[in-house]
Amino acid sequence: MEFGINKLVGAVLATIFNVSTLKIFGASNNSLSGRLPSSPNIRLSNLEKLHLWDNNFSGTIPSFIFNASKLSTLELQMNSFSGFIPNTVSNLRNLGLNDNYLTSSTPELSFLSSLSNCEYLEYLSFSDNPLDGILPRAIGNLSQSMENIWMSNCNSSGSIPDEISNLTNLIAISLEGNKLNGSIPIALRKLQKLQLLSLKDNQLEGSIPNDLCRLVALFELDLGGNKLVRFIPACFGNLTNLRNLYLGSNKLTSIPSTLWNLKDILRLDLSSNFFTGPLPSEIGNLKVLVQVDLSMNNFFRCC
Ligand SMILES: *[C@@H]1O[C@H](CO)[C@@H](O)[C@H](O)[C@H]1NC(C)=O
Ligand SMILES: *[C@@H]1O[C@H](CO)[C@@H](O)[C@H](O)[C@H]1NC(C)=O
Ligand SMILES: *[C@@H]1O[C@H](CO)[C@@H](O)[C@H](O)[C@H]1NC(C)=O
Ligand SMILES: *[C@@H]1O[C@H](CO)[C@@H](O)[C@H](O)[C@H]1NC(C)=O
Ligand SMILES: *[C@@H]1O[C@H](CO)[C@@H](O)[C@H](O)[C@H]1NC(C)=O
Ligand SMILES: *[C@@H]1O[C@H](CO)[C@@H](O)[C@H](O)[C@H]1NC(C)=O
Ligand SMILES: *[C@@H]1O[C@H](CO)[C@@H](O)[C@H](O)[C@H]1NC(C)=O
Ligand SMILES: *[C@@H]1O[C@H](CO)[C@@H](O)[C@H](O)[C@H]1NC(C)=O
Ligand SMILES: *[C@@H]1O[C@H](CO)[C@@H](O)[C@H](O)[C@H]1NC(C)=O
Repeated sequence: MEFGINKLVGAVLATIFNVSTLKIFGASNNSLSGRLPSSPNIRLSNLEKLHLWDNNFSGTIPSFIFNASKLSTLELQMNSFSGFIPNTVSNLRNLGLNDNYLTSSTPELSFLSSLSNCEYLEYLSFSDNPLDGILPRAIGNLSQSMENIWMSNCNSSGSIPDEISNLTNLIAISLEGNKLNGSIPIALRKLQKLQLLSLKDNQLEGSIPNDLCRLVALFELDLGGNKLVRFIPACFGNLTNLRNLYLGSNKLTSIPSTLWNLKDILRLDLSSNFFTGPLPSEIGNLKVLVQVDLSMNNFFRCC
């Protein structure tokens, strides 16, 4: 019975997709399941936006959907899709694939290279898929229009490629919850529109580069859960747009007094590091704080 209903959904979608005048189709946030139709004689000739997020579709994503010539927004996130992300893409602007079981046909995440054909691509979300593989240099070949890259919890390894700094219009990038190693690249300094940078829960080492202080638009910086050493750069005091700073669970040893210049900071996590010395009373100068975590360090009562 279940199987019968699932087949029916596929057949209904095949009929709908084949309506040649259709530009936008939305059926997000329902309880639809089963596979998407993969019949080669479905045209999708005028479809511009396809919203199917938050259902329980399964099976692979048919490549004819990816290369529909006018499709600019494809939202398939929060389903049970599996298999490879197709390497055929035409002209997407927004691609949402997060929260599925998708992977890549190659360890170099070759679908990223095919996405570089999308001249106007702005938004990519792959988070929470078992992509595995190595974060490739080809990421720097994505469109100059890129604004958002969400690639958390994808089991990706390797180091953060310098080429990522080609994407100078990025506003938000999250690579958290992967297995990235090496140091934080100083090339990130070129991403001057970044408001959110999350590299949390990886295996990054070395010290925090002063170059991050060039990212003056930063609102949220999360470097927690890595193996970062030495001090928080004094120039962090210049990041006046910063509201959320998470540096917990590293091996940092020293806090600059300039950090207390960040009068508008809301959330500060310095927990589980090797900070020592008197508990910084200057925290009292931060008048809008909502959340502070100084636990698991070696602070002591002054004098
Ligand atoms: C789609 O439409 C074309 C022509 O209108 C037709 O030949 C084809 O069989 C249709 N496909 C499906 C799956 O309905
Ligand atoms: C999905 O729909 C439910 C109601 O059916 C609603 O409560 C929920 O907020 C919706 N989810 C999203 C992400 O919009
Ligand atoms: C989604 O579909 C899968 C099978 O494809 C099934 O195992 C799972 O229970 C379904 N989840 C929900 C929430 O219906
Ligand atoms: C789109 O993908 C199909 C395979 O599903 C392929 O046969 C077709 O040639 C592709 N079209 C373009 C324009 O890439
Ligand atoms: C993570 O990826 C590696 C290959 O890079 C693979 O061997 C491992 O099974 C993956 N782990 C998970 C939890 O998917
Ligand atoms: C980036 O694109 C250029 C031009 O198409 C190509 O020559 C180069 O190999 C690509 N780089 C990577 C790392 O894929
Ligand atoms: C991307 O960055 C690399 C090195 O950082 C550079 O050699 C290459 O020319 C850049 N590509 C583009 C398209 O800007
Ligand atoms: C990062 O991890 C890869 C394996 O995923 C390894 O080959 C490489 O040497 C590591 N690099 C550093 C700097 O530790
Ligand atoms: C940034 O901070 C450093 C150290 O606190 C300071 O010397 C420098 O003048 C500041 N730069 C700007 C542009 O404010």
